[in-house]
Amino acid sequence: MPTPTHLAALLLSWVIRTRVLLSKYSAKQHNYAVDDSVKPRATFWREGARSLSYLLARASYPDELRQEYLAFFNDKLAPLFGPSPAEFSGSTPSSFISDDHTPFEFIWAIGRKGNMSVRFAFEPLSPFNGSSLPPRKSMPSLDILRGMPSLDLTWSNICRRTLLFDPPCPSENRVHFQHSSQFFLGGDFETHANTIVGKVYFLPHVRAALEGVSDFSLVNNCISDLGVEDCWGLASSYFDSIPESNRPTIAMVAVDCLEPAKNRAKVYIRTQNSSFNDIVELLTLGGRISDEHVAQTVSAMRHLWRLFFPGVADDTPLSSKRGPEYYPTGFLIYYEMSLGRAVLVPKVYIPVRHYCDSDSQIATALSRYFKDVGLDEVGERYHADLKQMFMHRDLATRTGVHTYVGICTKDSDGPMIYNYLSPEAFAPERHTSHI
Ligand SMILES: *[C@@H]1O[C@H](CO)[C@@H](O)[C@H](O)[C@H]1NC(C)=O
Ligand SMILES: *[C@@H]1O[C@H](CO)[C@@H](O)[C@H](O)[C@H]1NC(C)=O
Ligand SMILES: *[C@@H]1O[C@H](CO)[C@@H](O)[C@H](O)[C@H]1NC(C)=O
Repeated sequence: MPTPTHLAALLLSWVIRTRVLLSKYSAKQHNYAVDDSVKPRATFWREGARSLSYLLARASYPDELRQEYLAFFNDKLAPLFGPSPAEFSGSTPSSFISDDHTPFEFIWAIGRKGNMSVRFAFEPLSPFNGSSLPPRKSMPSLDILRGMPSLDLTWSNICRRTLLFDPPCPSENRVHFQHSSQFFLGGDFETHANTIVGKVYFLPHVRAALEGVSDFSLVNNCISDLGVEDCWGLASSYFDSIPESNRPTIAMVAVDCLEPAKNRAKVYIRTQNSSFNDIVELLTLGGRISDEHVAQTVSAMRHLWRLFFPGVADDTPLSSKRGPEYYPTGFLIYYEMSLGRAVLVPKVYIPVRHYCDSDSQIATALSRYFKDVGLDEVGERYHADLKQMFMHRDLATRTGVHTYVGICTKDSDGPMIYNYLSPEAFAPERHTSHI
């Protein structure tokens, strides 16, 4: 005989279920197949934690810290990823973070001495239909960083005000966008204490299009409100000198969630030029950045270029191995600025998924690079590490796990390599392998 409490609980669960189903049906663009056998969303996304767990261990995070960060991923991040693949039928979420629209990625940073650290980035999506959220709904995801020591959103708020478009009724705009993501969030898992330094990314393309202004003019306003316009002047005068038809576009502006005195602002440009010489030209702002650090970045890039793209001459554009339907295309470069510093620090992101043959070819090239620079252990293990992290498919069949390989030299330690890794949650192979 059910007690009144039981009945109330049953009724409540029925009401919640019906509401969830109704809200799903009302998301017209995504026809949900309501399937009771579907694994709960949280369980699915927790599987992403398996790769993260491996990576944190590989990067020598103490066990206790690894547990804390995994709990953070499962409890704070995963609920913001939107529906799991099984909840969609025939469509995917709209996140631009990776080619198959997986809304998160892991970043494996490897220092010149073989020291490692792990970062993440993700786009918070609508829990109902996986679409990108307007800023007033996506920005509150910053709550996940509440309680982190030294959290400061001064610069983040300036970026939001100067770069994002947040109308009260977004349905009225009729401009078509390749994607409507305006904001995403990331962080560094500190190696010695349970601390995550948050990073926020602002994409000005929506505001620029709707207000009919250039992305550069929005960024100029933002930079001047942040107070780093002296630094930015060098870059902006260089871009002004490039004919508009060849000029790179602004991809985004990123800042850390730290007090302004300790903060860094990065302006990311995207270019469709792809020869080695063109990328060096942009990276150094036509030779305007010429210090020892940038020279080391260029030399590491040359080394990797030969391994990724054997036989391609320095002035030959790379040819994409994927169709234009894969957005976004092109190289990314950022220029980092901070208060009271005159030099810009550039970083290059090689979109390996577009120009290489497969993830195993990329892994072989990286492995060779690490051995060449004396990091034998990293090189020896790289392929096996990758296989352990991504078991859902044969890495030789195509690209997609490595999205970008980044190179940057920040200090006398020499160039660091950053592997941007997509778990490919929406990969077709996952539907058949159930991994
Ligand atoms: C998706 O859901 C959000 C609410 O989270 C809603 O504002 C938006 O209009 C929906 N988009 C589509 C394409 O149904
Ligand atoms: C490696 O160590 C150097 C020196 O402590 C540090 O600056 C760098 O950020 C570290 N690299 C990574 C990838 O953690
Ligand atoms: C980029 O490509 C265009 C068109 O091929 C070319 O005119 C230009 O010089 C290239 N380099 C840069 C740095 O824009």
